[in-house]
Amino acid sequence: MDHDQRRIGILTGGGDCPGLNAVIRAVVKAATKRGWHTFGVLGGFEGLLEPVRLRRLDYQEMGALLTQGGTILGTSNRGRFAAKTGRGEVHRIPDEILDEAKRNLAKEGLSALVCVGGDGSLTIAQQLFEAGVPVVGVPKTIDNDLEATVMTFGFDSAVECATHALDRLHTTAESHSRVMVLEVMGRSAGWIAISAGISGGGDVILIPEIPFRYEQVCAKIAEREKSGRHFTLVVVAEGAQPLGGDLVTQGPAAGDREVRLGGVGAAVASEIERRTGKEVRVCVLGHLQRGGGPTSFDRLLCTRFGVMAVELAAEGKFGHMVTLRPPVTQAVKITEAIGRIRRVPLDGDLVRTARALGISLGD
Ligand code: F6P
Repeated sequence: MDHDQRRIGILTGGGDCPGLNAVIRAVVKAATKRGWHTFGVLGGFEGLLEPVRLRRLDYQEMGALLTQGGTILGTSNRGRFAAKTGRGEVHRIPDEILDEAKRNLAKEGLSALVCVGGDGSLTIAQQLFEAGVPVVGVPKTIDNDLEATVMTFGFDSAVECATHALDRLHTTAESHSRVMVLEVMGRSAGWIAISAGISGGGDVILIPEIPFRYEQVCAKIAEREKSGRHFTLVVVAEGAQPLGGDLVTQGPAAGDREVRLGGVGAAVASEIERRTGKEVRVCVLGHLQRGGGPTSFDRLLCTRFGVMAVELAAEGKFGHMVTLRPPVTQAVKITEAIGRIRRVPLDGDLVRTARALGISLGD
């Protein structure tokens, strides 16, 4: 083990999610064991620009972080580093911004930068790497839509939150003989919806990968009515769309901000009510899926990822990201993970499982 007094940095970028602090803790602990000093960059990538915002991270402070939600470093998905806007298009970060960040890291004597983020943040990390910054990536997002890893951290925690919500909606739906619509996050991927939908006993699951028809959704409700089940649980991913219909958004993308999704749950609820005459209620889970602490699965994944990120820094394996390929964690080039979204495969086992159970996917 080398004790070379190295200084490394860590930052969290993009939307927060459960487990960010657990990664920070693992990086600090593993780096300290090597005799290194770790510095947190505050406020995401913006903290690399003047005035540089760094905070020394002490081994002793890390104890409580394993279970704590959010990120002690702060994060942002906007600002001068925003690499993605609109529906996924990538913007080149101006050279002067990349150069300023590189200069500042060198000035602070940081010999590696661990970037914890999803597709947008890892796209920025790759651009920094190409500009000469020694970067290591850690894949984060509740959406689970990143290529090159079987799972991102934060996803399991979001699925657990949505599953618990369905458990609760189940009892009230049944008591009132209602249709309950639960809208979950996930952007243009249906991983949260289909995973929580199956785990939580959903009857209809609508995902962006499968354009749905209201006739099919209502047919499922009618089938349940006929068999004496007068309630139905409908899970809708925020990016789901009716066949030939539009994405429901909270307004267009603007400046450095990606388009905000949301509202499809209400649209689905009112159309079901109109067509079936049944009482329908909608629940939008929103940021509850992103808040709070990580599940035990995510705590373990974050810890494995954090430790491996330090190993990659020690080996000088920059431009790489840690990844989960069960049963092991591995390193892949960041370029393998970014640039396209990993969506739920239509011939995969989740879709097959749902169909085999008689769950309607709306098609
Ligand atoms: O990418 C994570 C995510 O939670 C998406 O599922 C969701 O569409 C988006 O971020 C919400 O972003 P914001 O926190 O900016 O509203």
